[in-house]
Amino acid sequence: MKAAVINQFGDFDVLEYADVETPKPKPGNVLVKILAAGVNRLDHYLREGSIVPDLPFPHILGTDAAGEVFRPGKGVTDFEIGERVIVVPGYPQNEEDYDIYPASQAPSFGLPGLHVTGTYSQYIEVPARFLLKDDTGLKPEEVATLPVVLATAVRAVKEVGGVKAGDKVLVQAGASGSGSMQIQVAKALGAEVATTIRSASKADFVREIGADLVINTRNEDLAERVKKWTDGRGADVVIDNLGGDVLATSIAAAKATGVIVAFGFASGPEVKFDIRSLFFEQKVLKGSMASDKRDMELGLRLVREGKIRPLLDRTLPLSEAAEAHRLVANNKVSGNIALLPWAAWVSRDRRSGPLLERGDSSI
Ligand SMILES: NC(=O)c1ccc[n+]([C@@H]2O[C@H](COP(=O)([O-])OP(=O)(O)OC[C@H]3O[C@@H](n4cnc5c(N)ncnc54)[C@H](OP(=O)(O)O)[C@@H]3O)[C@@H](O)[C@H]2O)c1
Repeated sequence: MKAAVINQFGDFDVLEYADVETPKPKPGNVLVKILAAGVNRLDHYLREGSIVPDLPFPHILGTDAAGEVFRPGKGVTDFEIGERVIVVPGYPQNEEDYDIYPASQAPSFGLPGLHVTGTYSQYIEVPARFLLKDDTGLKPEEVATLPVVLATAVRAVKEVGGVKAGDKVLVQAGASGSGSMQIQVAKALGAEVATTIRSASKADFVREIGADLVINTRNEDLAERVKKWTDGRGADVVIDNLGGDVLATSIAAAKATGVIVAFGFASGPEVKFDIRSLFFEQKVLKGSMASDKRDMELGLRLVREGKIRPLLDRTLPLSEAAEAHRLVANNKVSGNIALLPWAAWVSRDRRSGPLLERGDSSI
């Protein structure tokens, strides 16, 4: 099968479009034909080598995938060949951890593309238990933009942040893949949402997905705008996707006893803030990491109910994974990019014979 593979850390061009062995599904697992793979900033960090210094090479990146059942392994009875499915974006790798909730606290928790082979490929093997039926009615490339951002948004906003109807929530970096989904989840829960951008060109995008207040931090004072919006109190919950020198502003924008959810570090991993800004008003700083299958299920329910929609920036053939990473690194993406593993393969291999049939045992 074709895959976008890295053999070393480095710039975009370390992503090579290569032939790799197609997995054979073990009992209880399913071989999924990937119709579209989503791209996240996490993949870019991993390719650079900035978060996991000891990835085994060659390595296939990618956590998000929408596809169809190609070959169920022995004992799999819940899925039919050809059925549309979504890969749960992270799950325990050892059976004895399967029932730990939330799954991200399981000792063997792992993400496709990080701890195990990822989704930038034509097929992936997944335990049947961590496949969800795709009944969204959406195109695969739209679905592929959802898993990481949707499930982690449900975890960060609802489960960790505790957002409820009537809350006033601040989402930092609303135009990011994560931020744009967090805005939608908070709105779906009945909250009002303020969000930050740095360039005026992203204002329409965040308004369109539901932001009630848009603050351009290049020329506006964040804490002041949020205080005014909340009648002087501050936000009930702040979701901070940025870290770096932005976290201090998130703390300042939260109300007394408010919750600040540390979710990302797009502005840098080192933060500095005056500890008094946290404990004088008994604010709560919490971390949110990854998600559980249940978060994904709730997120998909909100999608089916029309409360959340996927934000597909563009599609690219899998062979152009490097270009997708360049766009992410240069902040040229609103929402998420989806890679199409079959677009390039069909045109490049048309001369070499027919495509494999579903259930084909020759692979
Ligand atoms: N905790 C978890 O489970 C989890 C899961 C997924 C992602 N994350 C983390 O969340 C962060 C965001 O990831 P992502 O995939 O959503 O990123 P992304 O889609 O690549 O977006 C990053 C965006 O942030 C915006 N931005 C950067 N600095 C900003 C600032 N000071 N104010 C407003 N906007 C700013 C940039 O837009 P402009 O350049 O236009 O401002 C850029 O488009 C990353 O650190 C990622 O590792 C965490």
